[in-house]
Amino acid sequence: MGIRSFIKRQLGRGAPAAPTAPAASAPAENPAAAAQDLLKAMASVPREPDAEGFVAICPSSVIPEGDGNTFKVGDVPVAAYRVQGKVYVVDDECTHENGPLGEGHADGFVVTCPYHDWRFDLRTGECLTMKDRQISCFAVKEADGFVWVGSKIRHGAAGRGGEHDDGLKTVRVDPLKP
Ligand code: FES
Repeated sequence: MGIRSFIKRQLGRGAPAAPTAPAASAPAENPAAAAQDLLKAMASVPREPDAEGFVAICPSSVIPEGDGNTFKVGDVPVAAYRVQGKVYVVDDECTHENGPLGEGHADGFVVTCPYHDWRFDLRTGECLTMKDRQISCFAVKEADGFVWVGSKIRHGAAGRGGEHDDGLKTVRVDPLKP
């Protein structure tokens, strides 16, 4: 956990301590066995694109309802969340300061960046914090037990920077001043 997340948790702000997602987000009883199972599942992911050029990122079971994670399509990190049974794939890099959106939390169709709480609509890529900072959305399908990602259906903004949205202020401290 980063320092900002720690402070927010102490102040009772930011992501809820208990995720709204069901069982899959709960800590595994045997984390080592769960990690082994996950590795085994990921090893089964097809390496080649399908006939339509879609790339498999994980078994469908790896993204349970309300949950998400970061995956790679080639060298491109993407965030994938399942909401109301459907998987949505968007840029992993937040348009504020490139925070990992796959490590955020989804409340319905809105994912919140774990760094400074910028919010995005998973269906459209719209940034709810700063209007001109949308993220890319990708075509997605599920077939043969896997989640497959195609090309971008909406392009994200290139700009970065802007105010935080987590209620915390950044204060620069000069270590040489008493
Ligand atoms: S990096 Fe995402 S809100 Fe700052």
